[in-house]
Amino acid sequence: MIRKALLPVAGLGTRMLPITKVVPKELLPILNRPAIEYIVQEIIQSGLDTIIFVISSGKEGIVDYFDINLGLRKFLEERNKVELLRLVDRIESQVENLVAVRQKKPEGLGHAVLMGESIVGNEPFAVILGDDLVASDVPCLKQMLSVYLELSAKYEDLSVIALEEVPREDVSKYGIVDGDRVSENIIRMRRVIEKPSLNDAPTNYAIIGRYIFTPKIFEHLKRIPKRGGEYQLTDAIQGLIDDGYPVFGFFFQGMRLDTGNLKGYLKAILYYALQDPELREVVLEMISK
Ligand code: UTP
Repeated sequence: MIRKALLPVAGLGTRMLPITKVVPKELLPILNRPAIEYIVQEIIQSGLDTIIFVISSGKEGIVDYFDINLGLRKFLEERNKVELLRLVDRIESQVENLVAVRQKKPEGLGHAVLMGESIVGNEPFAVILGDDLVASDVPCLKQMLSVYLELSAKYEDLSVIALEEVPREDVSKYGIVDGDRVSENIIRMRRVIEKPSLNDAPTNYAIIGRYIFTPKIFEHLKRIPKRGGEYQLTDAIQGLIDDGYPVFGFFFQGMRLDTGNLKGYLKAILYYALQDPELREVVLEMISK
C-alpha cells in the first residue's frame, strides 16, 4: 500500500558541529553502524521497498553506504573473507530501490520534502527524519501504517504523524499540536505550532520525525511562505488541516533516540550497547570503575 519512504538528510547538522563539518550526522556511528542504518532497517522491516534520500553537497556518503561497493567486494572476495563479504552484502542488498535527489540550498524541511515530489508521484508515502531513531518491539513506521490502514476505511487523503509527549520545558524545540481525542493513542489534529514558547504551547504533544502523507502535502508545500529563511513542513500540515483534510497524531510505542544533539547521541550509543550482552558488560564495568 505504501512503498516509498522519503528521507530528508540535507540539513547542515549545526548542533553536532564540529564533526558535521566533514561527517554528516546521519553517518555518525551508533556502535559500528551509521545512525541512518537503524532508520533504513525500520523502513524495510515495515515493508517499504523504495528509499528516496534528499541530500545536499557532501552527503553523498549516505547513499553510497547502501549502494554496491565493487572495489570492496573484489578485495574481500580475493582474500576469501566470507563473513565480511556477507556482512557487506546484507547492507548493500537491503534497499531494493535507492534514489537520491538534491536540495541545492538548505531552505528548510518543507522545501526538502518538496524536492521528492516527482519521485513520489501520485501515491501515499512516508517521511522519516534521519536523526530520530525509535527503538521498539514493532517498528514505529509499521505501527503508523496499521493506524493509516485502519483509518483509511473511513477517511480519504488522510495523514498520520507520530507524536510524543515531551517535558514542558522542551516544547520550544518541536512542532507542537493540539487536537481532539479519537482513541487512547490517536488524536485528530486541529492546530500545529512550530517551536512555540512555553506560554503559547497548547499541549506538550510534539511531532517527531515520522509522517505518512498523501501527495496533497506537495500542493500545500508550494503555497506556504518562507519563515526565518525556511519553508516549514508544519505550515503545510496546518494548510492540510485548514482545507479540511484529516490529519491524525499517533502516540507510538517505543523509545525515541534523537541523535541530532550530543546528549541524545550519547544516549543512543549507550542504549544499543546495553542491548548487547558483551558490550553491556563493558559499559557497566566502566561505569562502576
Ligand atoms: P534539523 O532541524 O535537525 O536541522 O532538520 P539540521 O540542519 O539537520 O540540524 P541542526 O539543527 O543544524 O543541528 C530536521 C531534518 O530535516 C532535514 C535535516 O537533514 C533533518 O533530517 N533538513 C533540514 C533538510 O533536509 N533540509 C533542510 O533545509 C533542513
